[in-house]
Amino acid sequence: MIGVGIMGYGTVGSGVAEVLSMNAASITQKAGCQIEVKKILDLRDFPGDPNEGKLTKDFQDILKDESIQIVVETMGGLHPAYEFVKQALEADKNVVTSNKLLVAEKGDELLQIAKEHQRNFFFEASVGGGIPILWPLYECLAANEVTEIAGILNGTTNFMLNKMIEEKMTFDDALALAQKLGYAERDPSADIDGHDACRKICILAALAFGNHIYPQDVYCEGLRNVTLEDVATAAAMDSVIKLIGHAKKCDDGRVAIGVYPMVLKQQCLLTHVSDVFNAVQVKGNAVGDVMFYGPGAGKLPTASAVVGDVIDAAKHVSMNKSPVWAPAKEGSIVPQENVESAFVLRFSCDCDVTPAVHAIFGDVQYVYREGAPANELAFVTPVLSEKVLQEKIKQLAGATLISSLRFGTL
Ligand code: HSE
Repeated sequence: MIGVGIMGYGTVGSGVAEVLSMNAASITQKAGCQIEVKKILDLRDFPGDPNEGKLTKDFQDILKDESIQIVVETMGGLHPAYEFVKQALEADKNVVTSNKLLVAEKGDELLQIAKEHQRNFFFEASVGGGIPILWPLYECLAANEVTEIAGILNGTTNFMLNKMIEEKMTFDDALALAQKLGYAERDPSADIDGHDACRKICILAALAFGNHIYPQDVYCEGLRNVTLEDVATAAAMDSVIKLIGHAKKCDDGRVAIGVYPMVLKQQCLLTHVSDVFNAVQVKGNAVGDVMFYGPGAGKLPTASAVVGDVIDAAKHVSMNKSPVWAPAKEGSIVPQENVESAFVLRFSCDCDVTPAVHAIFGDVQYVYREGAPANELAFVTPVLSEKVLQEKIKQLAGATLISSLRFGTL
């Protein structure tokens, strides 16, 4: 029998206990031993809960319990999750987490501690909710040099965009529904401002490219500035707006990485990912393009990924098989102003600026959306860097920029 301690009895933690109980027989068979929840750490009370008798408010109850060989961390946040996980690994326990902030900030250090102690630090649930992506990326695609990863990595914002476009739901109502369904972060700005997706693309890039990447070093733009006019402009181009996490290995070895709303063409697979679903597209130099798709958030889908890791940890309870990556490397990220893309620009104009548009931007493609004000001008630029784009926008006299969105296929 392997004992499990769960830290954090919220949406995901309670889902983990539920899945372990719901599928106990088949999990025992797959793990080769019984897996039993021994203690659950949470500061709240859960009167009448089936696991009420296992609840504790003291982390030491889990740390000192020798029957607990696997600690599940589903508390979220950096502190005290980091301190608890570190102590658990140093006490020779395996740790499974769904906490993307923890992995994105402290992954290299915690993986190293796990290695030194011949234990595991697993985190499949930290990216893509229920989608198996990290282990397939690290192990099944190991033969490849991964050159590019692009994904819809936040279920809440994808769900919200969908509700707003398809059902004309307001931003606030769509967010409230995502919160009710257990998709949104405790602080929803993590979803809306792109930080959650940013942590996830950092984890994917670290696994694929071998060095830790800190979220604070990565360009991150959320959904706040996306308007219904932008959505309609994208529709006029037979395209949609999606919040994309993107990482690309450049020829000089540096990584171009960022999170931003992007106008995607119909032929792009990510265009068709709706609702709370996530998808991750990986380009390998042997395999070509591979796509991973599934539910990106929610109680049981996320618990599915956590429990998968728990079973793996139970099978390798004293043997390190976690991935490793090196610490962050200075100068390894391409400054965002040098990253190239085509852009969809919308301007409010005082006069006819089309001759100047051609002179400044070159060969552009105009976009006409129904109901646009007569003085609005929208066009797609050729591929250019962010820095050059800003210089060109400044040169265009008589026109005020309304919005600027990256455009392309992935
Ligand atoms: N808030 C996150 C999302 C939860 O919506 O994707 C899963 O990480």
